[in-house]
Amino acid sequence: MKTRVVAADSAAEKESAIAEAVHLLRSGELVALPTETVYGLAADALNVSAVLKIFEAKHRPRFDPLIVHVGSIEMAERIAEIPGASSELIRALMGRFWPGPLTFVLPRREVIPDVVAAGLATVAVRVSAHPVFSAVAAEFGGALAAPSANRFGRISPTTAEHVRDELDGRIPLIVNGGPTAHGLESTIVAIRHGQIELLRRGPITEEELERFGKVVDPEIGSRVEAPGRSPSHYAPRTPLTLVETAARFSLPAETRCGLLAWNVGTDKDRFAEVRVLSAEQNLIEAATNLFRLLRELDQAELDLIVAENVPEHGLGAAIMDRLRRAAAR
Ligand code: TXA
Ligand code: MG
Repeated sequence: MKTRVVAADSAAEKESAIAEAVHLLRSGELVALPTETVYGLAADALNVSAVLKIFEAKHRPRFDPLIVHVGSIEMAERIAEIPGASSELIRALMGRFWPGPLTFVLPRREVIPDVVAAGLATVAVRVSAHPVFSAVAAEFGGALAAPSANRFGRISPTTAEHVRDELDGRIPLIVNGGPTAHGLESTIVAIRHGQIELLRRGPITEEELERFGKVVDPEIGSRVEAPGRSPSHYAPRTPLTLVETAARFSLPAETRCGLLAWNVGTDKDRFAEVRVLSAEQNLIEAATNLFRLLRELDQAELDLIVAENVPEHGLGAAIMDRLRRAAAR
């Protein structure tokens, strides 16, 4: 299959890209689309054979459920239930963060095929704020299953180029909406017993969620539910080690090492390749750059990537989560 990449810069380009995407989606095909977090690989969520193509293209195991993207809260309620007991909290969060990078795991309605939810009784739902994605969702009118547009277990794509590196020849269309804004996948929550269970850290931080209710780490209690949270994920092919500071790290002999730097003033000359997450030590910028820089280092023929810890507050917690998973293999 030939993969086309179409631009969505001018109004005319955008309009024709959206029309083409909607046409393919209605025909049960896959389309890679930009969201505000990472690029997604979309298919009609209610069409089982279309959804199966996602699993095939990504080499994704069937036990890993997909996020379903809808255009509005009303649409969300057609595919998922907002349980009465938690309704106030859920609606407050949706009102504040939708459209945007927050995904809710909710009891699923029957319209959602088993394969989308990997047989779970719940479904993950979000409304994207990206102008291209939301226009496609609106015109399509239905529900779009869209995981990140990478091969399973690999680094999520933050540019159309990354998507092509991952899926060239496996999907018909990539809509190029430029680099994504947040650079990390959406925050995933489940609301239970009046508490916010943080299933995946992301652009909406724990601190922001805490204003709405108690935030708990499901790792302590029921952690079975997010199969995609397997420790080794977001993995570069090159081994990665996480260190407090590279200054005190002694490089193994005869290895080509790359550095993913956070600290300023680290002696960078010892490394064959260096990428700086944010020269200003700004966590928002670091999050935006993280996956792109990891990809660049992964392509530099290194024996080892040394990544420095970032401060574990705000977005830093989500960045550290991704780095820990990249280091676990
Ligand atoms: O930002 C994002 O969320 C991106 C963009 C494209 O929207 N999507 C994304 O999808 O990151 P994906 O499939 O790469 O990650 C979805 C995660 C997986 O770890 C999956 O296990 C979890 O969500 N998940 C999906 N449905 C779930 C459910 N019903 N219960 C618990 N976890 C679920
Ligand atoms: Mg993913």
